Amino acid sequence: MLIIMNDIPFGFIIRGMHHWAAHIMIAAVFLHMCRVYFTGAYKKPRELNWLLGVVLLLLTLAFGYSGYLLPANNLSEGAANIGINMSRASPVIGDQLARLLFGDINTLSGVYILRFYWLHVFILPLVVIGLMVLHMGLVWLQGVAEPH
Ligand code: HEM
Repeated sequence: MLIIMNDIPFGFIIRGMHHWAAHIMIAAVFLHMCRVYFTGAYKKPRELNWLLGVVLLLLTLAFGYSGYLLPANNLSEGAANIGINMSRASPVIGDQLARLLFGDINTLSGVYILRFYWLHVFILPLVVIGLMVLHMGLVWLQGVAEPH
């Protein structure tokens, strides 16, 4: 992060744009969902596209959270600790889930950064792009709904 902020030409601008674009994307997805809901565009035959949208909303939040952990600053460590406690609170598989996502769950080691880096930079983009193609393909097939 220090190299991006101090050594890479315009690195701090690119980082700032990414930071604010991420916030705007989460707000935009939420507003899109409200638009779809209040115009009744989730009704038959678009129920599947609504469900796909809900998955896209959760993945957009996962993008936000995983990106939030990567700077490894105090905020990231706070968020990682919350993430560990939330995943450990999951019934039956709590500890395993926390260990899978964050590595060592008793002390916050750097393992969680590498795992969330993979998630943020490789896994989530592939999954989300695939679901977006499906989501917009369905819109293309069904057409945009007339307000109900
Ligand atoms: C990354 C997130 C998302 C992207 C990129 C995305 C993209 C789009 C686009 C481009 C359309 C077609 C035009 C439009 O109606 O705006 C659309 C339609 C739709 N979206 Fe999404 N969407 C996302 C998330 C969601 C969410 C969170 C929901 C609901 C929970 C949702 C439900 C729908 C439905 C039901 C339609 C069909 C609406 C109609 O035919 O008028 N989408 N989406």
